[in-house]
Order: sequence, then C-alpha cells, then structure tokens
Amino acid sequence: MTFTRRDALRLFGLGAVAAVSGCSLLGRSPQPRMLSSSAPLPTPYTVPLPLPAVAVPYRTDGQADYYELIQRTAEVEILPGLRTPVWGYGGQFPGPTIKARSGRRTVVRVTNTLGQPTVTHLHGGHTPPESDGYPTDLVQPGTHRDYVFPLDQRAATLWYHDHRMDYTGPQVWRGLAGFFLVGDDEEASLPLPSGERDVPLLICDRSFNADGTMPYPARADGPGAAEAFMGGVLGDVILVNGVPWPQLRVAGARYRLRLLNGSNARTYELALSSGGAFTQIGSDGGLLATPRSLRQVRLAPGERADVVVDFAAYRVGDHVELRNLAGEGPQAGIMRFTVDRAARDDSAIPATLSRVEALDPARAAVTRDFEFTSGGMHGGTGWLINGMPFDARRVDARPRLGQVEIWRLTSDVSHPVHLHLAPFQVLSVAGERRDGPPEWKDTVELRETQSVEIITRFTGYRGRYVLHCHNLEHEDMAMMSTFEVV
Ligand code: C2O
Ligand code: CU
Ligand code: CU
Repeated sequence: MTFTRRDALRLFGLGAVAAVSGCSLLGRSPQPRMLSSSAPLPTPYTVPLPLPAVAVPYRTDGQADYYELIQRTAEVEILPGLRTPVWGYGGQFPGPTIKARSGRRTVVRVTNTLGQPTVTHLHGGHTPPESDGYPTDLVQPGTHRDYVFPLDQRAATLWYHDHRMDYTGPQVWRGLAGFFLVGDDEEASLPLPSGERDVPLLICDRSFNADGTMPYPARADGPGAAEAFMGGVLGDVILVNGVPWPQLRVAGARYRLRLLNGSNARTYELALSSGGAFTQIGSDGGLLATPRSLRQVRLAPGERADVVVDFAAYRVGDHVELRNLAGEGPQAGIMRFTVDRAARDDSAIPATLSRVEALDPARAAVTRDFEFTSGGMHGGTGWLINGMPFDARRVDARPRLGQVEIWRLTSDVSHPVHLHLAPFQVLSVAGERRDGPPEWKDTVELRETQSVEIITRFTGYRGRYVLHCHNLEHEDMAMMSTFEVV
C-alpha cells in the first residue's frame, strides 16, 4: 500500500489541519494548550503506584530473546470508578516493561489488532533502519512485524512507543508506550539501589470525558478543533505509570527513580516538596560519569533522568511529594512518597559511575544547521524544519558512517529535539559552552528562541532515520526530517 502524507492528511486526525487550514503564516507560534477534563479530577495521593508488568520472552535461544506485544484495545480503570478505553501493548497502559541486556539480541513481534496502522519505535535504541520504526513503515491491522534490536549500546532507560506518521500524538495518547530497560555488566557491578528500589516512573498527562473516555482534538470535532491544539495537547490529569497522582510507600532507604516524560507536549520541572535534592546518576543515554546533585530536574517530552532519592533523610510517617514547578494547581503535583518503615540499605552511589568519552568538536567533519519554526507550506499550517514539512520521499542530510558532526539547532517556541540512532552530547546552549563531564542524550529541549549545539557520531548502521520534535503534535504537524547515514 502506498500511503502519502496528503492521503493521511485527508483522512482524519490532527494532521488534517494542515490540509483544511487556509492561513499560511501564524503571527505568533502557538503554545501547548490544555484540554480540560469534564470528569471530576480524582483526589491526589490515594491510588497506589502500579509498576508495569515485566514482559516475559515467549522464546529464548542462543541468538536472541523473543517477545510478543499484541496491540489491542482494552478498558482500564484510570480514574476511580470509570472505565477508560485504551490502546495498549498487551492491552496495558503503560505497556509491559522489557528488560533487556546490552549486546543480547532482542526481537519484539508487534501484532496489530487495532483498527488503524501502527509503527513502533524504540526510543534511544541503536537500531538498524528496518527495525527503527520509520514513520511510514506501517504495521497494518491484522498483521505483525518483528522488530530486531541488537542492543549494541550501553545500559540505559529506553522506552518504546507508537511512531505512525501524522498520528503519533493520538496513538500515544491512547496508550501506546512502555519502558524498555537495557542493563549491562558495568551498571550491574555498581551498588546502586536495585530490585523493588529501582522504580520506573512514566509521567504523562491526559484528560478525561465524564464517561471515562480520553478526548483528543480531531478534525471530526469541527473546523479548527484540531488546529487550536497545534501547539500541543496538555492534559489536566497527571498520570504516573497510568494512574492519577499515585502514592508509593517506601522504606527509609535509597531508591533509584527512572523518570521518563512520556507526555505529548508537557514539560515538567520536578522537585521534592521537602526541598531535598535528587542525585542524578543517569540521563537518556545511560549512566553519567559522576553523580550530580540537583534540586530540580527539568524533563521535556521524551527525556529521561535516572535519579536516586534517599528516604533515610526522612522520618517514618513523613510524606514527600514529587512536585512539578512548571505546573499550576493540580498539575503542580505528580505523586507522593510515604516513608512507612525503617530499613537496612546496602546501596551506595559511587563517586565514579562510568567512563564517558567526550566527543571532540575539533574532530567534527561537518556542521549542519536545523531551524525549528512554525509556518505554512502550500497553503497549510504546521511546523517546519529548515522551512520544510516532513516528506518521507526527501532526505535532508547524509552523514557518513563513523563521522563526527556538529548540529546547530535553533527554535522559535520550545521544541524537544530528538535524533534516532545517534546519541549526542550537548556542546553549547544559547551560545554558552557546556562545562562539566560529558553526558549522552537523545533528546534535548530547545527553549524559546534558543540555539543548542550538539555533537554526535553516526555509527552502526547505514540507512534512513529521522530527526524530529518530540512535542507529538508538532511532530504530527510535520516537524520531522529524514537523514540517511551513507
Ligand atoms: Cu520517542 Cu522518534 O521518538
Ligand atoms: Cu527515538
Ligand atoms: Cu516542537
């Protein structure tokens, strides 16, 4: 089946606004906008934090571990007393957590039983192009695809999610996202908190109709309904691992929290209500060289931070809230920890976590510029990279395999920029050189009218990959570009 962007735009969904809108240029770039719930918001800190189920391979042999994730609709209780239809990997939202090992081939069969095509992408994966979830590599309803992940990469908190061209926003919003944790020997040799004290937290926002369904702006809602949200869809209910404002009972000990912002368009500025610090040990691309103490952790959509919080600093009975300083009212809360017992703690945070090679700007063979702006093309409205909307038939950059390159990214409004395949290091932000030890990232937030320089090396595979904004409404409105490693 050939499926062009124009066809997609004509169908329905948010992408449709590009085709129906007559205006060619916006006076001002739109900001994300809140979609209000008509269901009453639940009382925070009453629901226990669930942990997504850990996926079990259906087969394992000398070559690989094989998993199957069946994408299906399910009804789940997200708000107390209401049934919410979701699209889930395994019918679950978030999907099951895949725990994989660096260097161990992992094959994930995704079977689509939904009524729409899907694409699955492993975010942060160093993946051959045919398994990377290029936005037009559709898995049609009633079919499956085996995604092969060699995982030739270091330990890191990755996640998988839908990546269908023009429909990533609505399909992730409905629930198509889950954790994919890669472990390795280096990380396993460290005395970091583990087992039940290693907790993945997928943070995202959603809104709910009074009947429990999750609304999402679409062309079907009337002219301009989707366009009003082209800046991004914000929910007014904050979910962690799929439940609103949960509570977790913890021992007075160190916990590793793997924070993932899986929201479509909301950026969080996380802080502890006690004023205590987080010790950050990892980023998108795995362990930092040395731990760093932070009072605030800012996470734009797609970004991750691995932090350790030591609850021994509190008394039994204390509550510690995880707050969002970037939100107001109910959206300023995320979840609550309640210290309910004292406990022994053998964990530690070593002063040296990992060796992280710094990519040397002097070795960069090429410097490229990518400008992220709103704007019109061919009478439409949307989001552009270097003045162009995404077109799967066009390749915008051809880095050579093994080559080091500097990419200069500039923005109008805030854009979390994500590169497939190649982890990168941030060289400068707003013209200021980043000091401190190097850190591997795969998503970096460009704040308003900011420029960020990143350095990367294209290794592993030749082929077609994308670079895009991880505000999913911007992505669906064409803020994506193809590069081909040659
Ligand atoms: Cu998390 Cu291309 O996406
Ligand atoms: Cu990705
Ligand atoms: Cu954007």
